[in-house]
Amino acid sequence: MIVRGVGELRVLCNDARAAGKRVGFVPTMGALHDGHLALVRCAREAADFVVVSIFVNPTQFGPNEDFARYPRDLDGDVNKLAKVAASAVFAPEAGAMYPPGEETRVRVGALAEPLCGPFRPGHFEGVATVVAKLFAIVGPCAAVFGRKDYQQLAIIRRMTTDLFLPVALVGHPIVREADGLAMSSRNAYLSAEERARALSLSRGLRAAQTAFAKGERDAASLERLARAEVERGADTIDYVSVLDADSLARFSSPIERGAVVAIACRVGKTRLIDNFVLGEDDPASLAPRAPVG
Ligand code: PAJ
Repeated sequence: MIVRGVGELRVLCNDARAAGKRVGFVPTMGALHDGHLALVRCAREAADFVVVSIFVNPTQFGPNEDFARYPRDLDGDVNKLAKVAASAVFAPEAGAMYPPGEETRVRVGALAEPLCGPFRPGHFEGVATVVAKLFAIVGPCAAVFGRKDYQQLAIIRRMTTDLFLPVALVGHPIVREADGLAMSSRNAYLSAEERARALSLSRGLRAAQTAFAKGERDAASLERLARAEVERGADTIDYVSVLDADSLARFSSPIERGAVVAIACRVGKTRLIDNFVLGEDDPASLAPRAPVG
């Protein structure tokens, strides 16, 4: 079922709750792939009534970013969501989420400063604002986010804690193609030649993970190893960083706690991100899988 109006969705979610159902929520920008669908399946395990939003949120795109050409395929998305038994698809117009006169934004803090922060000014404020609005409309008891957008998830966790939002957040592991490339709606922009070079991200993560497994605990050394792999395929690199997995702060001494390796780069004109939590994520997830059958 496609719902366009804020009021209409509120009624639907209220009715579900009144019927004793737990409401789950998966926010997306559409152009759905198997990574998104895994999030919906995960939400179905935590909830009885699962809302999926499809909204290309204008406030999280910079003036020179790909808002206008971001892939949109509502009919295709709705078909895919029917197969994973989503209960309702919320696809509002921009004017419904940002009606005339609106001016309130969620200000994010230090977690938005490293990694993508300097490269995408205002991005995380836009994300936090739309997610807060969506939470307020849906009122989910659980919401599922992908760890693919690691910094986004950290910021949403912080916001949920700081604003006392009554929603349990679930972070789903990154879903990858068989060759290791993290699934992304933006992969559709890649030519065949760029698609092959895009493997340099997961190779970079693997290089860091392999060195970490052999005992390397110096963040700068791990960054250098990962960067060397990324440089082989990327046209420009925004960052290759090894940071504290919780605070996203730099390490001033050898790594003792959880560390995330995070990469953002451009292959052709397409900006790609990927990450891996050392000692926590499954190294096998980065290794190319043999084709089935
Ligand atoms: P979008 O990029 O469509 O992603 C929607 C959700 O799917 C996010 O939680 C993202 O982390 C997750 N996701 C994307 N690719 C994934 C993959 N390969 N494996 C696992 N999860 C994956 O992120 C956004 O939209 C927006 O910023 C949004 C939160 C909807 C706010 O506008």
